[in-house]
Amino acid sequence: MLVALMLAMPMNAFQYIEYNELDDTVQAQTTGGLVQGLRMDDYAVFYGIPFAAPPVGDARWQPPTDPKSWQPNVLDARYPQYGCPQNCMLPPGTCPTNTSEDCLYLNVFVPLTALPVDGESNRPVMAFLPGGRFEQGAASSVLYNAGTMVNSSNAIVVTINYRLGVLGFLMTDDFTGNYGFLDQRQALQWIQNNIAYFGGNSSRVTLCGQSAGATSIAAHITSPLSFGLFQQAISESNPFTLDLKTRTVAKQNSMHFAKAVGCPTATPACLLAVDADAVIQGQIKAQQEVDPLIPLAAFLPWTPTVDEVDILDQPITLIEQGKFLDIPMIVGTVKEEALLFIYQASAKNITEEEYAGVLALLFYEKAVDIAAGYPPVHSDNRPVMSVLGTNFIFVCPNRNMTRYLNRVEPVFTYQFQHVLSFDAWGPDYPYCVGHVCHGSELPFIFNSASLGGYTFDADEQVLAYAMNNYWMNFVANGNPNIGLSVPTVWPNYDTNTDQSMIFQAPTPFVQANVLEPQCNSLDQLVGYNDPYR
Ligand SMILES: *[C@@H]1O[C@H](CO)[C@@H](O)[C@H](O)[C@H]1NC(C)=O
Ligand SMILES: *[C@@H]1O[C@H](CO)[C@@H](O)[C@H](O)[C@H]1NC(C)=O
Ligand SMILES: *[C@@H]1O[C@H](CO)[C@@H](O)[C@H](O)[C@H]1NC(C)=O
Ligand SMILES: *[C@@H]1O[C@H](CO)[C@@H](O)[C@H](O)[C@H]1NC(C)=O
Ligand SMILES: *[C@@H]1O[C@H](CO)[C@@H](O)[C@H](O)[C@H]1NC(C)=O
Repeated sequence: MLVALMLAMPMNAFQYIEYNELDDTVQAQTTGGLVQGLRMDDYAVFYGIPFAAPPVGDARWQPPTDPKSWQPNVLDARYPQYGCPQNCMLPPGTCPTNTSEDCLYLNVFVPLTALPVDGESNRPVMAFLPGGRFEQGAASSVLYNAGTMVNSSNAIVVTINYRLGVLGFLMTDDFTGNYGFLDQRQALQWIQNNIAYFGGNSSRVTLCGQSAGATSIAAHITSPLSFGLFQQAISESNPFTLDLKTRTVAKQNSMHFAKAVGCPTATPACLLAVDADAVIQGQIKAQQEVDPLIPLAAFLPWTPTVDEVDILDQPITLIEQGKFLDIPMIVGTVKEEALLFIYQASAKNITEEEYAGVLALLFYEKAVDIAAGYPPVHSDNRPVMSVLGTNFIFVCPNRNMTRYLNRVEPVFTYQFQHVLSFDAWGPDYPYCVGHVCHGSELPFIFNSASLGGYTFDADEQVLAYAMNNYWMNFVANGNPNIGLSVPTVWPNYDTNTDQSMIFQAPTPFVQANVLEPQCNSLDQLVGYNDPYR
C-alpha cells in the first residue's frame, strides 16, 4: 500500500515526499526525475543523486553539465555511490569504499518532520564539502552521515562529492582547470533547483566545509559567480596560509603529471586516453616533483587555481581588501592542527639543523625571530614544528581573516580542544592518539562516532549533542544560540574582546585571547599570503 502523504497543494507547490510503508522507502521528485531513498528510524536519506553528467570520456577535464533525466524511471537512491578516484590515506571511516570517475553525486538527509512535507518548503539546509587535501575523501563516508544531525533539528543536510586531484584541477594550455571547484558550484545550483522538493528553502543554505572544504568556502565567498547560492557559511580548519595555486604553479604541476603518464606535450588526445588508475599513479609521481623550494606546496599539491576569471586572486588577499560576500559565519580550528601533517611528513626525529633549514626556507630573514618564539631542541623538533605549523598555517591566519570577515554580519569563532577518548586514527596515525589532530571535531559535529564503530564516553556524548545543536541552530537561525538548547552562550566575535568558544567535554566555555601573544607576534613578523612559501 502506498501511503501518499502529498497534501492538496497549489500547482506551483511542487514538493512532495511519499512514504511506502511496505519497504520503508521514500520517494521524492527532482529535476532529473523521481528518486527512491530509504526511510530510517530517525530520518530519511537519498544517497547518490547525480548533480552533473558523469565527467567521463570526453567530459573528463570539462566543466560539469546537467545530468540526463532518468524519467520515466525511478532512480534507486538507497545506496551510496562512488567516491572520486584517489589514493586515499585518510583515517578509518573517511575513505570511499569504491571509486569511479563517474562520481558527481550528492546525498540528501531529510528530517522525519519533513515527511509529509506540510505544504511549505522552508526548512534550512546545510551543504557539506568534505576535506582531504583536494585529493582524498568522499561525501558518503560514515563520518559524514548526517542522520542524527537532521533528526535533532528540522534542517536538511546535503553532502557533496567533487572531482579531486589531477582529475579535479589539471590546468594546461588546453584544459582550463578548476573542475572540482565548478563541481561544488554545480551541486549548490542543484540545491537551488531541487531542495524545495525535499522541503528545503533554497534561500536558507549554509555552506559548511572542513579543511579543503573550508579552503573551498574561502574561494566561494570571494568568487562572485558563487554568490546567491548560499547565505551563510561554516569554515572548519581552513589552512589559510596554504595558497591556492597560481596558474603558473598549477600548469607546472600538470606538466609533471603529463610527463608521468607518457604525454610529455600534454595533448588532449593523449591525456584523455589514460585510464583512471594510471591517472592516479601519474598524480602520485607528479606530487613527488612539487618544487621543494616552495616547501608548503607539498601539503596541498592540487587546489582550486587563481585563474583570474572566476577565482580572481588569493582568497586571503581579497578578504583583506574587503572583496568578499558578507554573510554570517562560524570559523574555527582544532588545537593541534598541524601535528598530523608534520609527523606524516617525517617518520623520524627532525634535527635542530633540519628545523633551522625549514625556518630559513619559510621565513627568510625572519627565521631567527621565529626561532626565538619556537625554540629548537636537541632531540626531536617535530613537536615544536607542530605548534608553529598550527599557529602559522591555521589558528593565527584564521583569527586574522576573521577580523576582516567580521564586518556587518556576525562571525562566531571556536577552537576544538577535546582529546578523543578512543582511537579513531587507525594504524597510520599512531601519533594522533592522545592529541587533538586535524579533523577531531568532525565526529562531534555529525555525532557519527557510533557509525564508525566507536563509542563516545558520557561526557563526549554530551559535547557531541551540544555541538550538533550549535551547528543546527546556526544553520536554522544564523546564530548558534537560538533554537535547540545549548549549554553556554556563544558570543559574536569582536576584535576587542577576542572571544572564542572552546569545545571541551562535557561543557564548552568561552575564552578570550586564545594564542593572543603568539598570533600578534606572527601577524607582525610574517605575511600570510606569500605564494613562494
Ligand atoms: C561499493 O562496494 C560495496 C562493498 O564492496 C558494494 O556493496 C557496493 O555495491 C559498491 N557500490 C557501487 C556503487 O559499486
Ligand atoms: C525562504 O526563506 C526566505 C529567507 O528567509 C524567506 O523570505 C522565504 O519566505 C522563505 N520561503 C518559504 C517558502 O518559506
Ligand atoms: C532522533 O530523535 C528521537 C526523538 O527526539 C530520539 O528519540 C532518537 O534517539 C533520535 N535518534 C538519534 C539517532 O539521535
Ligand atoms: C628522538 O627524539 C626523542 C625525544 O623526543 C629521543 O628520546 C630519541 O632518542 C630520539 N631518537 C633519535 C634516533 O635521535
Ligand atoms: C593580518 O595579518 C597581516 C599580516 O599578514 C597584518 O599585516 C595585518 O595587520 C593583520 N590584520 C588584522 C586585522 O589583524
